[in-house]
Amino acid sequence: MRTILIGLGTIGKSFCQLLLNRKQDLLSDYGLDPTIVAAADSKGVAINEKGIKINDIINIKEAGKSISELSIGNKDKTAIELIEEVDAELLVEATPTNIQNGEPSNSLLDIAIKTKKNIITANKGPLAIAFSSLIEKANYNNVILKYSAAVGGGTPILEFGRKCLEADRILEINAILNGTTNYILTEMDNRGLSFNDALNEAKKLGYAESDPTLDVDGFDAAAKLVIMGNLLLNKDLVLNDLSVKGIRDITQKDISKAKGNGNTIKLIASINKSAKVSPIEISREDPMCVKGALNSVKFTTEFAGEEIIIGKGAGGMETASAIIRDLVEIKQNMRV
Ligand code: HSE
Repeated sequence: MRTILIGLGTIGKSFCQLLLNRKQDLLSDYGLDPTIVAAADSKGVAINEKGIKINDIINIKEAGKSISELSIGNKDKTAIELIEEVDAELLVEATPTNIQNGEPSNSLLDIAIKTKKNIITANKGPLAIAFSSLIEKANYNNVILKYSAAVGGGTPILEFGRKCLEADRILEINAILNGTTNYILTEMDNRGLSFNDALNEAKKLGYAESDPTLDVDGFDAAAKLVIMGNLLLNKDLVLNDLSVKGIRDITQKDISKAKGNGNTIKLIASINKSAKVSPIEISREDPMCVKGALNSVKFTTEFAGEEIIIGKGAGGMETASAIIRDLVEIKQNMRV
């Protein structure tokens, strides 16, 4: 599958690593042999119509250099021009999330739709700002748009929710949707770390966004909740509809007080009639009370009752595994 890869940060690089690791089984199990014909990082672009070697991409990024050094075509192009001009079937987009205007992702997806390239995005920005119009544009142009990696890292939260919907009705969702803040709150509680020390660890572990204020102030979780509400509860939400409070003001005193009540503090995203994100005390015995960068999502359904999915909600390889999941699904859809 001729693929354009835009974004070579933690997720983009991990995607390349996973493509290498899984080369044989992707081919034998799914007939998938993705060829990266063009790529872009924050410093430049590379084109090779015959395919850029994935090993070379990994090595050049590990050396801290720009992908443009691998180009055998015209390097003097923007990422948008790559998508517009290079012959490809798929765009994999993993640029940093921007919740103000969704850029650069918004324009990249737009041009991919116009040029009829299927899309896998790990980016929450455009989905949180303009979910309905994006889905409508993709459908109208017969473009497959997949975004499993935008919610839950490697955990198939959207797929799990869609399964619930098949024979039941989701009434309410309560969830821990941000790995970074869950890591911070866990380490403040377990090891008595300060907020800043715990945040620095989360950054080093590759959990935090390029702009970690998105994690800390609750907007990353809110963006994921918007996507879930729209896809799984048929809402028509945008980020501004939500009430959002993050964990910036949580102190060791708050953590100790919660401990005294047999509880701990978690950043909970919830949606029923309204949608909100805020830190609340929950029981340590609650099955939703997960540690570290784990995510947990409790679906309250009309007939089956409560169902919970737990898994790694952040991290490069975890999120890259969701991109591979989307890749396999696109390949299966394209065969039909
Ligand atoms: N920064 C995000 C988190 C990454 O911590 O959950 C996964 O979306």
